[in-house]
Amino acid sequence: MADDNGMSAARAACIEDLRRLAHRNVPREFMDYYESGSYAEETLLANRADLSRIKIRQRVLAGASGRTLDSRILSEPVALPIVLAPIGMLGMGWRDGEIAACRAAQRAGVAFTLSTMSICSIEDVAAAVSKPFWFQLYVMKDRGFIAELIERAKAARCSALVLTVDLQVLGQRHRDVRNGLSVPPRLRPATLARMAMKPRWVAGLLMGKRKTFGNLDGRVAGMSDVRSLSEWTAQQFDAALSWDDVAWVRERWPGKLILKGIMEVDDAKAAAKSGADAIVVSNHGGRQLDGAASSISALPKIADAVGSDIELLFDGGVRSGQDVFRALALGAKGCLLGRAFLYGLCAGGEAGVTRAIRIVASELDVTMALAGVRTIGEIKRGCLQE
Ligand SMILES: Cc1cc2nc3c(=O)[nH]c(=O)nc-3n(C[C@H](O)[C@H](O)[C@H](O)COP(=O)(O)O)c2cc1C
Repeated sequence: MADDNGMSAARAACIEDLRRLAHRNVPREFMDYYESGSYAEETLLANRADLSRIKIRQRVLAGASGRTLDSRILSEPVALPIVLAPIGMLGMGWRDGEIAACRAAQRAGVAFTLSTMSICSIEDVAAAVSKPFWFQLYVMKDRGFIAELIERAKAARCSALVLTVDLQVLGQRHRDVRNGLSVPPRLRPATLARMAMKPRWVAGLLMGKRKTFGNLDGRVAGMSDVRSLSEWTAQQFDAALSWDDVAWVRERWPGKLILKGIMEVDDAKAAAKSGADAIVVSNHGGRQLDGAASSISALPKIADAVGSDIELLFDGGVRSGQDVFRALALGAKGCLLGRAFLYGLCAGGEAGVTRAIRIVASELDVTMALAGVRTIGEIKRGCLQE
């Protein structure tokens, strides 16, 4: 869809352009769900503010031709050091959104992570794409269901399991409470009126057959008595989660295991001992512990403490190639893009995600040239101002 100036996702110059287009396409309650942080949104704001405070050193006459963004994440070659983060309900922003985003990622040569809380199921995505993708797992109270999900991820040949460890209880997002967001959506008059103003979105979703949490629907014992899957899910997050649960998952999942949501050095050290292959330094995009530090401020301490013992990935507030450069310089091997690719999806489906990845790739390439580096491995702390 084009905006008032005739701009479409394909011509977006930056992620902010895609964000504006996304707001034009998608009804407010879903954009609120995508954009919000928890409580006062202090951590959400800190993620962005602290990234942009980090200054990159401009280097000249350094011979920056012949650059390449190729690198490796978990020993796998990637075309650029990014991964698409697990995002719940992509399929409410665009019809079959998980499939669209996964296809765009695979064509761009980067990994896509399917959320437990996706609209398209693991099996739907596996049947629609050509290469393996990553699967993100929440360990919920119903361990039988979780063991089954792990088996389903194996059967779908997922190439890594991302175990999210920072959602033992759900941080409240005020806008979701006020909007009464639920899945499947409860269609109240005010919601219907707002949806009517987004005809392209309505047409896309109506044509699609998937409108609820694909990994859970019809799979959970007793679900038919429960009013909505959202309510079931909210009761299922498990405050008792511990390192024993990581061991429980490690026993069942022989492939690459990534722990997502680590912010403290001690937790990173425990993760390195847990048998996990990588961690994501992350505060869930400011959606969980409000008042927590920005994830970029946690990264260098963790890199100093465990950077050689376990692979480090990073997310939170990454909206440009410059941000990717900053995180790599502070010790990350790669960055997960969250809202940055989500805006692309809501702006233009698969083509919008492709555009988001290209924007970040091109910004990273230019940043490398102007900072005087030619390879991803050369991006070091010395590339930043003290
Ligand atoms: C709308 C939304 C839904 C999310 N859903 C999940 C999820 O299902 N599982 C998960 O591990 N993380 C989830 N996250 C967190 C992201 O994986 C990632 O950590 C975060 O978006 C990074 O911050 P950024 O959006 O500023 O890039 C979600 C984030 C957003 C914005």
